[in-house]
Amino acid sequence: MSSVIPKYLMICTNRRYGAESASCAARSSLQIADAIENGVRTRNINIVIERSVCMGQCLKGPTLRMAPGGGFILGKTLDDVDAILDELEASCGFKEDDNGPLHLLGS
Ligand code: FES
Repeated sequence: MSSVIPKYLMICTNRRYGAESASCAARSSLQIADAIENGVRTRNINIVIERSVCMGQCLKGPTLRMAPGGGFILGKTLDDVDAILDELEASCGFKEDDNGPLHLLGS
């Protein structure tokens, strides 16, 4: 993995209706996206998940890609989601706590 801290994980959820070729949605990318989004929210990982259109890797998908500067992550299944979340934690860290200080007027 590169030294650039990724800000986005793109997940292809494209479905190619009527085509003979495979597509990421036909290979469970929607379920993988749901599981990763839930995991990122639960673990408070500092990354934005973007569902994307085709990234040109249809025969090797489901296709995921870290951005900026990340390579493709290909052919993962729902069984791989925990390991992907572990990798995201290690690469991106955690979001800052949203509960900032309470400022009271006149105090
Ligand atoms: S359908 Fe996902 S990369 Fe093409």
